[in-house]
Amino acid sequence: MSNNLLKGKRGIIFGALDENSIAWKTAERVHAEGGKMVLTNAPIAMRMGKINELAEAVGAEVIGADATSMEDLENLFQKSVEGLGGKLDFVLHSIGMSPNVRKGKGYGDLNYDWFQKTLDISALSFHKVMQTAEKTDSMNEWGSILALSYIAAQRVFPDYTDMAQAKAVLESIARSYGYRFAKSKKVRVNTISQSPTKTTAGAGITGFDAFYTFAEQMSPLGNATADDCANYIIAMFSDFTRMVTMQNLMHDGGFSSTGITEDLMDTIAKGV
Ligand SMILES: NC(=O)c1ccc[n+]([C@@H]2O[C@H](COP(=O)([O-])OP(=O)(O)OC[C@H]3O[C@@H](n4cnc5c(N)ncnc54)[C@H](O)[C@@H]3O)[C@@H](O)[C@H]2O)c1
Repeated sequence: MSNNLLKGKRGIIFGALDENSIAWKTAERVHAEGGKMVLTNAPIAMRMGKINELAEAVGAEVIGADATSMEDLENLFQKSVEGLGGKLDFVLHSIGMSPNVRKGKGYGDLNYDWFQKTLDISALSFHKVMQTAEKTDSMNEWGSILALSYIAAQRVFPDYTDMAQAKAVLESIARSYGYRFAKSKKVRVNTISQSPTKTTAGAGITGFDAFYTFAEQMSPLGNATADDCANYIIAMFSDFTRMVTMQNLMHDGGFSSTGITEDLMDTIAKGV
């Protein structure tokens, strides 16, 4: 299905590691909807991942950037505007990493250097991306900037440890920068709070499979997949959502508004 929703639009997609990544699915949909993009990821992820395969399929240039490095980001934005032939209409920040989660540290045993890395990579990088976009004057009016969040920003999911704080900061940055960018450039900034999704980042959380099944049963529509998320992102990049800004948008099949479901009660009653 393609409706040319992004025809003539240009942007940057951060975070396509492999074909499961939300950013990967998004890049495919952007291409199908007629948009042009630059793909980027951290240099180490580019060596390990398959980003060049994706770049070929969607006709995109790849420019490496560690999203915590202002120097890398400046280079990325300048080269993207040059290479794409004009200012940008959309940016997707699809980046998350916690050394504490990765190394299985419990919430009462966090390594604080790693905690700072979690915040820098998963949250402050969003501010850095937007500050760079603004300072290099890279955004077109009515552009759309998105980052991906998770409901652990509002509610406790114990195994998510310091990523919960990172997502809370991320969502707060979207509000504060959204205000600023709306006033200066009519650019909108939002976060999408996505269901648990089977990707490298998702599967890194302890007990992910059980949790995925729980969320599936707690969501009247079931879990939103990475493909569903990519479709929602396209809608948010399109001109149909120009007045939506400074929001944390729940994309979770109804999970966040549900107290209990028959499916979950049945599962508990059966003891499975
Ligand atoms: N998978 C889920 O269950 C889920 C649920 C809600 C939100 N999210 C969020 O979606 C986003 C995308 O994650 P995903 O699930 O597609 O997993 P993914 O592992 O495919 O993507 C995460 C990306 O972050 C990149 N990254 C890490 N450090 C970086 C750095 N310093 N600079 C630039 N890039 C860096 C990785 O290389 C990778 O491409 C993340 O923000 C994640 O927290 C995921």
